[in-house]
Amino acid sequence: MSRKPFIAGNWKMHNTVEESVNLIEGLKAAKNKNNADIMVAPSFTSLNAVVKASAGTGFKVAAQDCYYEDKGAFTSQVSPVQVKGTGATHVILGHSERRSLFGDTDEILNKKVGAALNHGLVIVFCVGETLEQRESGKTEKVIKDQLVNGLKGFGAEQLKDLVIAYEPVWAIGTGKTATPEQAQDTHKAIRAMLAEQLGKEFAAGVRILYGGSVKADNVDAIMAKEDVDGVLVGGQSLIAEKFNRIIDYN
Ligand code: PGA
Repeated sequence: MSRKPFIAGNWKMHNTVEESVNLIEGLKAAKNKNNADIMVAPSFTSLNAVVKASAGTGFKVAAQDCYYEDKGAFTSQVSPVQVKGTGATHVILGHSERRSLFGDTDEILNKKVGAALNHGLVIVFCVGETLEQRESGKTEKVIKDQLVNGLKGFGAEQLKDLVIAYEPVWAIGTGKTATPEQAQDTHKAIRAMLAEQLGKEFAAGVRILYGGSVKADNVDAIMAKEDVDGVLVGGQSLIAEKFNRIIDYN
């Protein structure tokens, strides 16, 4: 089955509104020769401005997280309703920084998945193991638990637009990239897990992105792998020329 490539930039806690809009202007130079879905995930503060600046480009705009309640006394939280209100259509859930620094457990993420689905946001759901877990042979068990518990209660039909991002924690922001073979092996394992959990058809169609120190000079080899359908890029998505080269991978 051919899956449409998906190239995503997670801007994390970078960029003012003005810087975000400038970055979008810079990304307009990409040719998108692979006809990929292109997604950017700015901070909440820049979402609406980025949606407006992206008009006519086809760029998908994502929040980096959202809360699971629609509204209420939850100081500082941003609801899926508010995300939608900015014009954004996508949301990243379960990024390892959310899991490790801000206490997003599988149980919380499961509620966030439900809330995002409820409001029609497309979810990019992140999974991945730490170095210690990889070295002790637990990679597949860790990821399976994240998938089973994070997506519990939702079926293939509800999750039809879901995108998975495999991001080994040891490769994020460290300059250490998984080798293309490591990425392929884990993506293949994830597809098999999803076949078991949500059915073969779902697994064959779901896009699985690799994330963790993706750069212009390693993207081609990573994207060449059969089960890698795209990339989720942090640092290098903040520099237009670099991200454009990633979008236009060979
Ligand atoms: P990085 O971040 O590309 O800077 O390693 C990836 C991510 O956290 O999504």
